[in-house]
Amino acid sequence: MSFYGTARINRQGHLEIGGCDTVSLAAQFGTPLYVMDEAALRKNCRAFREALKKHYPNSLAIYASKAFSCAAMARLVDQEGLGLDVVSGGEIYTALQAGFPMEKVYFHGNNKSAGEIALAIESGTGRLVADSRYDLALINRIAGQLGKKARVLLRVTPGIEAHTHEYIRTGQIDSKFGEGIPNGQAREALSGVKELVNLEFLGLHCHIGSQIFETDPFADAARLLINFASELKRDFDLDLKELNLGGGLGVRYLEGDDPPTIDLTVANLAAALRETVRQSDLPEPRLIIEPGRSIVGEAGTTLYTVGSIKTIPGLRTYLAVDGGMGDNPRPALYGARYQAILANKADQPKMVTVTVAGKNCESGDLLIKDLEIPQAEPGDVLAVFTTGAYNYSMASNYNRLPRPAAILASDGQADLIIARETYADLVRNDVIPERLKTGAPASSAG
Ligand code: LLP
Repeated sequence: MSFYGTARINRQGHLEIGGCDTVSLAAQFGTPLYVMDEAALRKNCRAFREALKKHYPNSLAIYASKAFSCAAMARLVDQEGLGLDVVSGGEIYTALQAGFPMEKVYFHGNNKSAGEIALAIESGTGRLVADSRYDLALINRIAGQLGKKARVLLRVTPGIEAHTHEYIRTGQIDSKFGEGIPNGQAREALSGVKELVNLEFLGLHCHIGSQIFETDPFADAARLLINFASELKRDFDLDLKELNLGGGLGVRYLEGDDPPTIDLTVANLAAALRETVRQSDLPEPRLIIEPGRSIVGEAGTTLYTVGSIKTIPGLRTYLAVDGGMGDNPRPALYGARYQAILANKADQPKMVTVTVAGKNCESGDLLIKDLEIPQAEPGDVLAVFTTGAYNYSMASNYNRLPRPAAILASDGQADLIIARETYADLVRNDVIPERLKTGAPASSAG
């Protein structure tokens, strides 16, 4: 198989990432361990910046931090000149902790709380992307209370449903996100936006899906939104200053996956946008895109230590690792599939077929079915690829398993960016009421 980024097999026959021997990383930091390839992360950020500069300079790429949010990642994104997409008070707080320039932060969410909106406005968050007329009104009210003006976009559903390998032009109105264009709800929501005096309406946002392999749906979305913007100009004299087309570019999980390049995706989208704008009488809006997975997905690898290996003759061999659905819920949630190798036997021929099982108390906690690997034994290090996106960010403490550490590897140096949770962390918020502090219920005393 071909490796991504700086991953390669070193002279010891071990998997190496960012110039670091992953077997040594496992020994030094423990497992499970998320290993982030710094050079790959930076290269992906730059690919978006350069593609936009080339094809549509009046633009900004913002990293969708829900894919992998931590303070170090926010710093790296800032260094690379991207903005940040956040969807919760927690993600805003992370950006603030990281000293991220808040004017480059976009705050999304279909049910933002009043507290989150106040935090966003008070911290100088650049844009709030309203999800509905309810959200517009709430943001307007809170901005008024704070004596501030909030810069907003409205999220719309254009009626394009994008899937991994296909998209359908109808439907998608049935979504919890955004106001529909085809059924007139978006138009209705914006008809009175000028009366919301604490808002500055800047434009439209849409996000048509995730892990998309075609470039056409993005171009179609651009066309649809520009046509809708022409209607808004004509009927309500609303200007489209910004057009945010969301994220969604797919990545490679399996050998056969072949996503389009960042450059091609941006080129097609920019061409469609330009063309439609030219046919309208609108000025070119500023273009925002919000990649998450395509920046961090393939740059992340999870290391596990192999423990129990159970063979059921004639049926299957379960190879259990020291993590599972707690650190990667995607196989259990979405039936997501992954590739993996034994990091300490990376140069050895594949001999056996195993099913990689996690250690959570759940039969469905299987990370990979039918994986071919060299002869395995307890203590081997299993490296699962493309775990950078929606793994740590979706991790849980199910079974009270501490969430793993994450490191940033570059040029032979490995730096901790998220510490491993401790047992003390797990019980930190537990509270024992007074009446439970004795050995027996109060009523049975004496
Ligand atoms: N912008 C908005 C408004 C979004 O909702 C999302 C993802 C993105 C940008 C970034 O999309 P990306 O470039 O990462 O595809 N947990 C799922 C993915 C959920 C995506 C949610 N929204 C998974 O593990 O596949």
